Amino acid sequence: MTTNITWLGHGRFQIRTAGQSLLIDPFLDDCPTSPQKADTVAADTILLTHAHFDHITDALKIAQRTKATVIANFEISNWLHGQGLPEKQLEAMNVGGQITQPFGLVKMTLAHHSSSLPDGAYGGLASGYLLDLEGGHVYFAGDTSLFLDMKLLGLVGLELAVLPIGDRFTMGPDDALEAVKLLSPKRVLPCHYNTWPPIEQDAAAWAESVRKQTAAQPVVLEPGETVQL
Ligand code: NI
Ligand code: MN
Repeated sequence: MTTNITWLGHGRFQIRTAGQSLLIDPFLDDCPTSPQKADTVAADTILLTHAHFDHITDALKIAQRTKATVIANFEISNWLHGQGLPEKQLEAMNVGGQITQPFGLVKMTLAHHSSSLPDGAYGGLASGYLLDLEGGHVYFAGDTSLFLDMKLLGLVGLELAVLPIGDRFTMGPDDALEAVKLLSPKRVLPCHYNTWPPIEQDAAAWAESVRKQTAAQPVVLEPGETVQL
């Protein structure tokens, strides 16, 4: 039994683990780098890090089609319920909390970022996720700046850390390198870059810096490619 994590471009991931398909931050149909479409993507569970359009745009329609459980913060959960998603499909959380799911443990972690819904409603705090899955702990930072508490998140022993490197709206390459030093993961995967010109980055150059300056192994994927835990 293994866990396969596929980068779908930008902040999106599909995780296949314990016979389930997990989808993180689905923004598929209007994104230039997405290899998947909202009307065909598989999902048993959808995890949302925050309410910005480039993370939640397709969450509602995918949840309505697949009947997937949606894990999100309290404010996003309420908003989705208001849009017609039944309560039985919603798992509301908040930063610091942990829940048990059929595929493993889900902890909602701090992220330093803003979060507002497409209609301007308050989206609650932005977050990341620390998942305890078959094959180890995986940390998805979400959209965030660098913060010193990443040191604490790494204490569980991370098999993989997934970090934004796009800059402008999140950490850039230099801060993401410092994040690797704080988190001490075995492997690190960059995301949230090269979706649009304002967040273009050289992931290969960043990976080289990771190799030189940390003990972590960088894993650079193209959208649609998979890493195994
Ligand atoms: Ni954002
Ligand atoms: Mn974003």
